[in-house]
Amino acid sequence: MLVMAEPDSLVLDAADALVRLAKVTKSFGDQVVLRDVDVDVYAGEVVVLLGASGSGKSTLCRCINRLESIDSGQIVIDGKVLPEEGRDLARLRADVGMVFQSFNLFGHKTVHENITLAPVKIRGISKSDAAKRAHDLLERVGLAHKAKAYPAELSGGQQQRVAIARALAMEPKVMLFDEPTSALDPEMINEVLDVMTELAAEGMTMLVVTHEMAFARRVADRVVFLDRGQVVETGTPAEFFTKPRTDRARDFLAKILTH
Ligand SMILES: Nc1ncnc2c1ncn2[C@@H]1O[C@H](COP(=O)(O)OP(=O)(O)OP(=O)(O)O)[C@@H](O)[C@H]1O
Ligand SMILES: [Mg+2]
Repeated sequence: MLVMAEPDSLVLDAADALVRLAKVTKSFGDQVVLRDVDVDVYAGEVVVLLGASGSGKSTLCRCINRLESIDSGQIVIDGKVLPEEGRDLARLRADVGMVFQSFNLFGHKTVHENITLAPVKIRGISKSDAAKRAHDLLERVGLAHKAKAYPAELSGGQQQRVAIARALAMEPKVMLFDEPTSALDPEMINEVLDVMTELAAEGMTMLVVTHEMAFARRVADRVVFLDRGQVVETGTPAEFFTKPRTDRARDFLAKILTH
C-alpha cells in the first residue's frame, strides 16, 4: 500500500513488506558475515542486491530461505516470522522461489518432470494441473518444445530458464535470484534477463543478486548495496549509480563499471 507522507513524496508502508530482514546478524565461526542487516522488499518490487565478492549477498539470500540459520534478528515473510524448523518453515519456504547460479536441475528427470515434481509432492496439486501449469510456464520461458528433454540436452541459458519455470511452478510470493547469469556464456545472458524482466513487469516481487548493471539500472526499483556484511546504501538505481553517497559505493562502482 502506498501512503502519502508529504504532499509530494510517497513512502511505502512498512507493514506491507513482503520480505523483511530486521537486524539480521550471521557469523561463520568468528567471521561476522551479516551485521544488523535491515532489508525490506515490498510486494511487486524488484530489489537488486549489489556488493563486492564476499560481502554477504549469497548468505543473505540463503538466510531468507533458511538454507542458513541466523544468529540474531528476524526474517519475516508476508507477515510471518520465519521459524527455525518444522512444517511452518516448509510452508514459508515454499513461498520463496530461488534460482541459483548453478541450475540445480535434476539431471535424471526431464524438463517436464523437473517442473511438476515439487508442486505435486509439496503443494499437493494434481498431476494434470501440474502438467498444465508446467506447459504454460514453459511457453512463458520459450521452451515448450523442450518438455521431454533432459537437462544435459539443453544449453546453459535454456537450463536456467527451466530453473526459473520450476521455481515459478510453486507459485512463490517472492523470487530470489543469486547471480542467475554468472555461469552463462555471454550470448545466453540476455535470454535469461529477458525472462526476468518480463516477470518483473508482471508484478513479481524479486530480490536479485547480479553483476548485470544495465539490467539493474533498467529493472530495479531499488538497489541495496552491501559492504562487508552491512547495508551501506539503499536507493533508486538513478540515485545509486549516478550519485553514490559513500566512498565504498563509489569504489565498488568504479571497479565494476570499468570492467
Ligand atoms: N558455509 C560457509 N562457511 C564459512 N564461511 C562462509 C560460508 N559461506 C560463506 N562464507 C563466507 O561468508 C562471506 C560472505 O560470503 P557470500 O557467499 O555470502 O558472499 P557474496 O557476496 O555472495 O560473494 P560472491 O559475490 O563472491 O558470490 C565470505 O567471506 C565467505 O567466505
Ligand atoms: Mg554469492
